Amino acid sequence: MALLPILTAPDPRLKKKSLPVEAVDDGVRQLMDDMLETMYDAPGIGLAAPQIGVLKRVIVLDIEREDTKTGPLFMANPEIIDASDEDVSYEEGCLSVPEHYSDVVRPAKVTVRYLDREGKVQELAAEGLLATCLQHEIDHLDGILFIDHISALKRNMILRKLLKARKEQERDAAHGKPAVAKDPEHAL
Ligand code: NI
Repeated sequence: MALLPILTAPDPRLKKKSLPVEAVDDGVRQLMDDMLETMYDAPGIGLAAPQIGVLKRVIVLDIEREDTKTGPLFMANPEIIDASDEDVSYEEGCLSVPEHYSDVVRPAKVTVRYLDREGKVQELAAEGLLATCLQHEIDHLDGILFIDHISALKRNMILRKLLKARKEQERDAAHGKPAVAKDPEHAL
């Protein structure tokens, strides 16, 4: 297992479309395990492979809330095969957009088809935070961030602040200051 550095916006790799995996082999399982460890360490509740610079259609999630306890979920080639007409708004954040949050409207319920860690086809019907998180992670595989769902004005403001924060962090790191911890509640 290995901890991998998480890319932050506006990194161009986060805007690329990821390719399907041909089969869930040992290499993909290693990637899944490394992603899960990286996600727990961040800490976050979901992570997509492009966030660590790997342009493969692989996501991991683990949601532990009063109403939703998934345990670790590993998904290769996930696709949304059904979505509700009913929408819901949730305040999203992202490990690749640290310390910024915004309400995003998405379908309240989705059904996702994917290959599990053993390469078996599975379907999962989700609602609530799990539905939101699945859509957020699958978006990553198509180069879409949650800030692409909000107004250009707000998006550009966030991207400018992220660039500024990155420069400050690089300067602080050069002077030996530790990085600031992230908010685990909304880190998808
Ligand atoms: Ni994200």
